[in-house]
Amino acid sequence: MSKKDRNRVCPAELAGGLDNKIRRLFQNPVKILKPYVKEGMNVFELGCGPGFFTPAIAGLAGNAGSVIAADLQEKMLDILRDKIRNTEFEKRITPHKCGKNSIDYHGGADFVFAFYVIHEIPDKERLFTELYSILSGGGRMLIIEPPFHVTGEEFRKMTDIITGCGFRLIKQPRMFPNKAVLFEKTV
Ligand SMILES: C[S@@+](CC[C@H](N)C(=O)[O-])C[C@H]1O[C@@H](n2cnc3c(N)ncnc32)[C@H](O)[C@@H]1O
Repeated sequence: MSKKDRNRVCPAELAGGLDNKIRRLFQNPVKILKPYVKEGMNVFELGCGPGFFTPAIAGLAGNAGSVIAADLQEKMLDILRDKIRNTEFEKRITPHKCGKNSIDYHGGADFVFAFYVIHEIPDKERLFTELYSILSGGGRMLIIEPPFHVTGEEFRKMTDIITGCGFRLIKQPRMFPNKAVLFEKTV
């Protein structure tokens, strides 16, 4: 697979492959997010897709918390809207449409979560500068990237860009076969 193919935006037509029971068996959203998402947090989920993780984040953030579920594709956000309609999570989740070159979000966040999305975004320096600006001091950002789409070298380059934007690398949680890294804004 060429680098261009590996980094293309995942089409909304593949949403079913992202949100299903089989995936839940080996990528349990609550298990992955419980160490990071606490009651009352405002979470910015970048590239939420059809919302495989979104309700779990809203559940962990609780009644006082909220989720900005952000995606480039309106079609993905529509699938998410249908999924949460008339559920207890509807009020806690705000679907947000990102621009092609900007997250276009100017509110705040206590935690940023990005699963399988960073490799699809060409201008990483701009992205992480924006994410740094929305994150509260001491706020954390968890990034998880897929094994075949992202090489070890590409992942290292990405972490260098992120630290260059002011984030401090906290740890690289084990999430085999995926690549994961946790950052903090230390201002
Ligand atoms: C492979 S999917 C992963 C979706 C979800 N995180 C999951 O794991 O199920 C990547 C998602 O990132 C979104 N995306 C790609 N580029 C983006 C950008 N510049 N801003 C926001 N979302 C973007 C795509 O539209 C797609 O929904």
